[in-house]
Amino acid sequence: MAAALLNLFNVSFLLSLLSNPNSGPWPETRLGGVDLFPATCKRIECPSYDVIHVGEGYEIRRYNSTVWMSTAPLQDISLVGATRNGFLQLFDYIQGKNSYKEEIEMTAPVITEVSPSDGPLCESTFVVSFYVPKVNQADPPPAKGLHVQRWGPVYVAVRQFGGHVMDSDVGEEAAALYASLSGTVWSDAIEKSHGSEVSTHYTVAQYNSPFEFKNRLNEIWFTFHL
Ligand SMILES: *[C@@H]1O[C@H](CO)[C@@H](O)[C@H](O)[C@H]1NC(C)=O
Repeated sequence: MAAALLNLFNVSFLLSLLSNPNSGPWPETRLGGVDLFPATCKRIECPSYDVIHVGEGYEIRRYNSTVWMSTAPLQDISLVGATRNGFLQLFDYIQGKNSYKEEIEMTAPVITEVSPSDGPLCESTFVVSFYVPKVNQADPPPAKGLHVQRWGPVYVAVRQFGGHVMDSDVGEEAAALYASLSGTVWSDAIEKSHGSEVSTHYTVAQYNSPFEFKNRLNEIWFTFHL
């Protein structure tokens, strides 16, 4: 009897986790601000960066050089939907669907660059990119529909948030990053790089696969040059 009750408890506990993946008994990634080195980057390769400044609710990083394999611009009303579609193409790519039939190690983060579009449906344009591991950077295998982006030195203002990325949250997180930067020496540089479009041009970086539901970490990035 007791064992049966215990089983019942376990089953319902599991079900409650599955139906609400962010409410587990473990400490959730602290929301807002920046206080974590991405845990994923202890397991798989991530681009290295230097932390230039830590502010209230944000961090400024410098990436010296990074190479990305990127989708064509995707028109969508949903960042989540566009990222899923883009990631499927990139997943095929690393599984060997490329001109060299070469398998490529998984890396993090997967980034989605957001920019507004003139479409009639309030659509945005999204480019989804995979960070190319160092061993492949000199000669990333080409693939139909994908292109290489080589970034020179770039500064990034970063805000971290947890959970699964939802369309209803990203705008708010980007606005919070923008607010935390206001009045700092960085906001001038960011506005110079983005013109009047800071609030609609940003990047979402995701460090976990959709199947991980513990300690998920995402970031909003404003990239800029000094
Ligand atoms: C980036 O470049 C600077 C200047 O050359 C160097 O001091 C720094 O260590 C580099 N950082 C990384 C993460 O490679």
